[in-house]
Amino acid sequence: MPKRSQLKKPTWIIILVSLVCVFLVFGYVYPPRDSVACHVFSSSSCKKISSWLPPLERELSDEEIASRVVIKNLLKTPSTKIKNPKIAFMFLSPGSLAFERLWDKFFKGHEGRFSIHIHASRVKPVHSSRYFQNREIRSDKVDWGKISMVDAEKRLLAHALKDPDNQHFVLLSDSCVPLHDFDYVYNYLMYTNVSFIDSFEDPGPHGSGRYSDHMLPEVEKKFFRKGSQWFTMKRQHAIIIMADSLYYTKFRDYCRPGIDGRNCYADEHYFPTFFHMFDPSGIANWSVTHVDWSERKWHPKSYGLKDVSYQLIKKLSSITESVHETSNKKRITTITPCMWNGMNRPCYLFARKFLPETLDTMIDLFSNYMKSTVDRSPPAGGSEAPAAIGSTYRRLSAGIPSPFKISKTSTDYISPQRRRMSEREVPRRESPWGRPEGDTRQPKAHRCNDRVEDVVQACFEGNPFKTVPGPFKLFWQCMQSKPGEEPTEPFYYLQLAPPSRDVKLE
Ligand SMILES: *[C@@H]1O[C@H](CO)[C@@H](O)[C@H](O)[C@H]1NC(C)=O
Ligand SMILES: *[C@@H]1O[C@H](CO)[C@@H](O)[C@H](O)[C@H]1NC(C)=O
Repeated sequence: MPKRSQLKKPTWIIILVSLVCVFLVFGYVYPPRDSVACHVFSSSSCKKISSWLPPLERELSDEEIASRVVIKNLLKTPSTKIKNPKIAFMFLSPGSLAFERLWDKFFKGHEGRFSIHIHASRVKPVHSSRYFQNREIRSDKVDWGKISMVDAEKRLLAHALKDPDNQHFVLLSDSCVPLHDFDYVYNYLMYTNVSFIDSFEDPGPHGSGRYSDHMLPEVEKKFFRKGSQWFTMKRQHAIIIMADSLYYTKFRDYCRPGIDGRNCYADEHYFPTFFHMFDPSGIANWSVTHVDWSERKWHPKSYGLKDVSYQLIKKLSSITESVHETSNKKRITTITPCMWNGMNRPCYLFARKFLPETLDTMIDLFSNYMKSTVDRSPPAGGSEAPAAIGSTYRRLSAGIPSPFKISKTSTDYISPQRRRMSEREVPRRESPWGRPEGDTRQPKAHRCNDRVEDVVQACFEGNPFKTVPGPFKLFWQCMQSKPGEEPTEPFYYLQLAPPSRDVKLE
């Protein structure tokens, strides 16, 4: 065949390669949509092919488009500066709150910086603290594991949102106790941009095993997450929850006990999945409320009188890693450091499942452990104020690092006059030659001392290339400034991605 022999070998190769390219491009643009294509290949190779094809762009329904537009817009809206930001403490309880007297101690002296909201679902509570008087909202029945639990949470959020000063919202139960003092909790929640919502992927029966295909197309299995219901939420996220009905409806209808022969609990999946889908970097992925599941029973461990001690509280309040365990046979445990504004800090502000019998012991302990484990924020205008600043090394040696003083050296919570250091006298060692006659000068701390301390501290906060530049810039500005015109703004470290490691048990 003379004609064919005229086509030289390279031409054949080029045609062959082009054909393969066209085939691949075609496959890329029109990926196999149904199983017909998969029957041509074996089904496993079909999976492989689809895994390196781009994800299918699903056409969104009208509701989804509307819903996403609202969520995106709310997420973009910057939070307004509030003169007197408050934290809303929302108690979910069947009746009276056993630890009211403990909370009374916690709140004392901080009037105007918090609000309390109580959802008592069964019995009208009797109060022993004036802060809790007349704070009940209209409540409804709450069934454990049912959507009525989420409804109660939403009802609390709605009531708390009515006060425009409320900027962060904390959900607590009647068995919750505080692990730190009010200032610590306030600063921990107020000076961060995330909501502390627990969210992780559990491929086991108590995680994705509870997913139902009825949730499609809005909620795909790959987005399904699990987490403890005890959240704290920034205002923006609380408003988004108020605006959502599409995803709420999906969980109400298809994540409930007994769906498809499985038990799904909306309160453990709705928020974790929802925020994982729409604002994954806006949530911390762990809950600031500690609970002990280590006994692996149906309910977490309860702390009774014999368990409660100073050591227990100290132990719980100094945990700096959050642990998630999958519910499948492999029981994969993921340990993640709790990163607060890029720094490893204690994970827990509250702890759950304390029995009412521990109340008096806890009240005694509270005054003790608050004093010893927590940096108190400086008293307003006190004479000891300057000493409270720049105590970097005392802070580090105090055992539990304070989350707020280290991350932000800020006028937000330290008044400007505290910031000025130049009044502080520096202890002076006598020179062996004595002082010149008539010299009564006293050396003073340099006005940029604080900034130097910030830089020194930044060296030990992780990757110095990321942590040092911010504080150093402010130090440099301070040195260049005229006395009295020192920069007063806070510094931020760059957000560092938390390292995580997987530990396999068994
Ligand atoms: C929080 O967000 C604001 C505005 O988006 C930003 O200026 C600030 O640096 C953020 N703070 C932290 C601690 O990430
Ligand atoms: C929480 O997890 C999601 C994905 O699982 C991740 O994208 C996000 O960055 C995490 N949030 C934080 C604050 O690390």
